[in-house]
Amino acid sequence: MKRLVEHGLATGVERHFSEGVIRWQKQHGRHELPWQGTRDAYRIWLSEIMLQQTQVATVIPYYARFLARFPDIAALANAPVEEVMALWSGLGYYTRARNLHRCAQIVVAEHDGRFPSDVERLASLPGIGRSTAAAIAAFAYGTRAAILDGNVKRVFCRAFGIDGFPGSVAVERRLWEMAAGLLPATDIESYTQGLMDLGATICTRSHPRCTACPLALQCVAHASHRTAELPARKPRKALPEKSTVMLVVEYRGAILMEQRPPSGIWGGLLSLPELGRLLPSVPTEVGKKVLLSALAEFGEVHAIEALGDFVHVFTHYRLRVIPLRIRLSRRFPQASPSSYQWVPKKKLASAALPAPVRKLLDGR
Ligand code: ADE
Repeated sequence: MKRLVEHGLATGVERHFSEGVIRWQKQHGRHELPWQGTRDAYRIWLSEIMLQQTQVATVIPYYARFLARFPDIAALANAPVEEVMALWSGLGYYTRARNLHRCAQIVVAEHDGRFPSDVERLASLPGIGRSTAAAIAAFAYGTRAAILDGNVKRVFCRAFGIDGFPGSVAVERRLWEMAAGLLPATDIESYTQGLMDLGATICTRSHPRCTACPLALQCVAHASHRTAELPARKPRKALPEKSTVMLVVEYRGAILMEQRPPSGIWGGLLSLPELGRLLPSVPTEVGKKVLLSALAEFGEVHAIEALGDFVHVFTHYRLRVIPLRIRLSRRFPQASPSSYQWVPKKKLASAALPAPVRKLLDGR
């Protein structure tokens, strides 16, 4: 099948898919959008640029105002850019407006005011990506070209059970190949509009309306109850890791605790003393000396025991906790800092402690 797809010859599966989309679009798709029912490439281009990052309902009044002020491409090309920007104001993503104006000027100056009909030339114009070029070519000229915007990616990922983040290079390449292989021999306009309509109205991100979907019977995600998982979400970036040495200093059934300041992490909670949050690595010999001199205020050290490291995950970073149990053979009267206090183990059972401290003290 791969070979056939590469040559753009649809097999049964592809024909079934595209015919389903086309039949559904003709019966149930959208037919009354202001940019439909025309072959005017200028109007189609304008709508496709506006629809790139903006929903249909928001675009409609902007589209009407633009056409009233710039009825054709020459009017737009000849207007001052400030006026274009002012009319665009409120639609967002203003690079689109600047590119729109530049594109109009290029089409007037280099293409006699007529948009090219082939996808490659369209895609070389400012603001027109591969998918937008295909949509313009299909709607204005009936060119057999594949679109692949976010909505269409979702339809494909679900219908064919494509795993992996669709924004990744590998998955995106695969989706473009599929998109090309699925193209129908005829009715490219209904097929292209049908994919858009399905993605926007049926195969929505959350709560897709599978009972109304013409592809439900052949949809891999529907059959395997995976519509909520597909398409896969963007993988989270690895969180940075910090580390801290956490001390469990014990003397006769009491533990040395630190009252955390009211703000910051674990604000107001009772925690364990720490040796330098942000330590780059496990304690070195220098670290040990620092540790011993710090503890000299509290008593005489009898034994130091490394407990097992573990990682606590915060929203913005991972904290590697390196716990050391320190048993004192003698305890001095309390010295500074005053935020330190000896707390009997029994009292700690009901204290408000940060989760990793609770975990450590409970020996979990
Ligand atoms: N989104 C992008 N292009 C569209 C179009 N032609 N109709 C509806 N929504 C769209």
